[in-house]
Amino acid sequence: MFKVIAVAGSPRREGNSATLLKAALAGATAAGAQAEVVYLNDLSFRGCQGCQPCTADDTCRVQDELTPVLGRLRQADVWLLGAPIYFDGVSGQMKLFFDRLHHLTNEAGQLRKMLPGRRAAAIVVTYEDKPRDDYREVAQRLANYLGWMGRFDPVEVVSLGRLGPSDAAAARPELLAEARALGQRLVEQLAQQGRTDG
Ligand SMILES: Cc1cc2nc3c(=O)[nH]c(=O)nc-3n(C[C@H](O)[C@H](O)[C@H](O)COP(=O)(O)O)c2cc1C
Repeated sequence: MFKVIAVAGSPRREGNSATLLKAALAGATAAGAQAEVVYLNDLSFRGCQGCQPCTADDTCRVQDELTPVLGRLRQADVWLLGAPIYFDGVSGQMKLFFDRLHHLTNEAGQLRKMLPGRRAAAIVVTYEDKPRDDYREVAQRLANYLGWMGRFDPVEVVSLGRLGPSDAAAARPELLAEARALGQRLVEQLAQQGRTDG
């Protein structure tokens, strides 16, 4: 059974990005996957310390409440990362989390994918402003770095503007349906491709 993990980078558990993540998880579950959501704001964790030993053995030396989540991420076939845009970047919670993935990008100073097998992913960002290419680019850049960690194919980017109030996404059934279809599609595509080929 495929495992899907959603990492929610907003402090608002019922906010826009988390609502869309949960819809995507529902789609993944409908496709037969096992689903989990992690709310980063519930965890006490530090950002990357830049201490570098991780580049030698792909193990993060920082031990805190994010540590078990990093273990579960390794086991997950589909990663769904969602966050609001705060001051033109992803929320601080998501940035701290993403920095802690550094150990998955290197070995002994060489750029090498540290995650075996094939995975699928989606990066979801929500924001208040009109649709903006630069905010899509914020999400796309994170998506690009997943390619440094493992064979993520496909990686979808979802960038949604005009979502100011926290309940805005919940009132947009078409967005919820698209998110649900996204979760279902990622699992189905992975199932078709096979998780370990290549
Ligand atoms: C600290 C803070 C900074 C924000 N900065 C921006 C911004 O730069 N551009 C924008 O369009 N919206 C900005 N917003 C609005 C949020 O991105 C928007 O409400 C988003 O949909 C919230 O997602 P959530 O409901 O998942 O928390 C900001 C909100 C907060 C609280």
